[in-house]
Amino acid sequence: MSLERLVIFDTTLRDGEQCPGASLNLKEKLEIARKLATLNVDVIEAGFPIASPGDFDSVKEIAREIRGSSIAGLARALEKDIEAAARALEKAESPRIHIFLSTSKTHREHKLQKNKSEIIKMATDAVQFGKKFCDDIEFSPEDASRTEQDFLCEVIEAVIDAGAKTVNIPDTVGYAVPDEFGELISNIKSNVSNIDKAVISVHCHNDLGMAVANSLAAVKAGARQVECTINGIGERAGNAAMEEIVMALKTRRNFFGVDTRIDTQQIMPCSKLVSSLTGFFVQRNKAIVGKNAFAHESGVHQDGFLKKKDTYEIMNPKDIGLEESELVLGKHSGRNALSKKIEDLGYTLTDSELKEVFEDFKILADEKKDLFEEDILSLIQKQKFSEEDLITYKLESIKCSFESGKIPKASVVLTNRDGEKNEATANGDGPVDSICNAIDSITGLSCKLIDYQVMSKTKGRDAQGEVTVRVVSDNREVLGKGVGVNTIEASGFAYINAINKLLFKAKPDSLECDDITGP
Ligand code: KIV
Ligand code: ZN
Repeated sequence: MSLERLVIFDTTLRDGEQCPGASLNLKEKLEIARKLATLNVDVIEAGFPIASPGDFDSVKEIAREIRGSSIAGLARALEKDIEAAARALEKAESPRIHIFLSTSKTHREHKLQKNKSEIIKMATDAVQFGKKFCDDIEFSPEDASRTEQDFLCEVIEAVIDAGAKTVNIPDTVGYAVPDEFGELISNIKSNVSNIDKAVISVHCHNDLGMAVANSLAAVKAGARQVECTINGIGERAGNAAMEEIVMALKTRRNFFGVDTRIDTQQIMPCSKLVSSLTGFFVQRNKAIVGKNAFAHESGVHQDGFLKKKDTYEIMNPKDIGLEESELVLGKHSGRNALSKKIEDLGYTLTDSELKEVFEDFKILADEKKDLFEEDILSLIQKQKFSEEDLITYKLESIKCSFESGKIPKASVVLTNRDGEKNEATANGDGPVDSICNAIDSITGLSCKLIDYQVMSKTKGRDAQGEVTVRVVSDNREVLGKGVGVNTIEASGFAYINAINKLLFKAKPDSLECDDITGP
């Protein structure tokens, strides 16, 4: 049976990246965009070009490289924002400018100090201005779910007349509930006379834990685009999780009656990539992509499951790309075997990158007997996302001692850009604290470790630990990552990674960027 198509608009790189602590660099954003394209996402919202030079460059690079998905750039209803988005999207195969303007009473009065007719004029002017650069314009009346419905319909009708091809209904503050939100979409369909000329989209936040339910209620009521993020990351409690929406539509196909283009087997690899690059670990019991999502623990469930899978399983784990982690390579594997595995994992490395990954592979294979796909992926990521240009200090070695009842002590050796070696020793509350203190005494920075997490990459006592730290200094927060079989050493790498980012960020930005506090 052929079903109506639902457009999947992914905003992991814009709304997702906007959440506190999730700051991705250009290489990382590009890698996520490539994965989203492999997933067959219809629209990738790559960023907010006016917001910062970094955002502008990443939208530009993504637009230049990615094919097969539309690339969207966000803009306020201001000419300078729209121009910046248009410039960043110049090389896109199918560009989309996404313009937003608040419409709710509270936003109109307190945020914008504008009356209803001024809002309509700003919105339509912006859409018409956007049309000069790009045919595909999406308009979002921000805080739509708290906007008076007759005024919301008026705005929607006006922007469609002005040329908007998609009207997105955001539940900006996550206030809606499913029945009411579905009804809002039905009302828009019945009361906006030109609604057949645009696609209705929804964009739900998860403040009350209902983002996915609200999005699905909207689909049932006729919305044909859903905005969502991988793992549900996003502002505050996040956005609707793409994997949940897509799998709900697939599993309950007859109920919803719509189809997506998503290659669901790419869901798990994509979830892992986003989690690893943003440092936001996925909770174990998270629907679809959590570690426990397909684990059957209770005896009664296991018994039923072993007799017939569908007694306790409504989805096939293979459909989301969840395979038993394969043992892939070992100590005696050669360069060709590694190169073939890297290709199978979907990566292409230059000869010099491959040489370095092979060297790291040999070191790792000496440290741990069995190497799994995740281990190879971490070596590739280390190579692909290393930020040589931002390295001020390199961690050469760590010596660390601790014993029950004694104060831990660590010595570190760092090399600076000029190749000078610095050594320092410090005590701390624990081994990680003493390493951080020793590093601080060399760099002279005063830092606060506000978060520290370790996740094992694979199974077994010799599994590599992925350490993520969040460090604050002078009101700037950065994320640092380190991976290794020795988690204490990996903690040192994660901390020095954060320190290098802090030192790099301290340099003034060469390009101008806008202060995003306006409309
Ligand atoms: O949540 C929101 O309202 C948004 C808009 C920019 C669509 O992110
Ligand atoms: Zn949002």
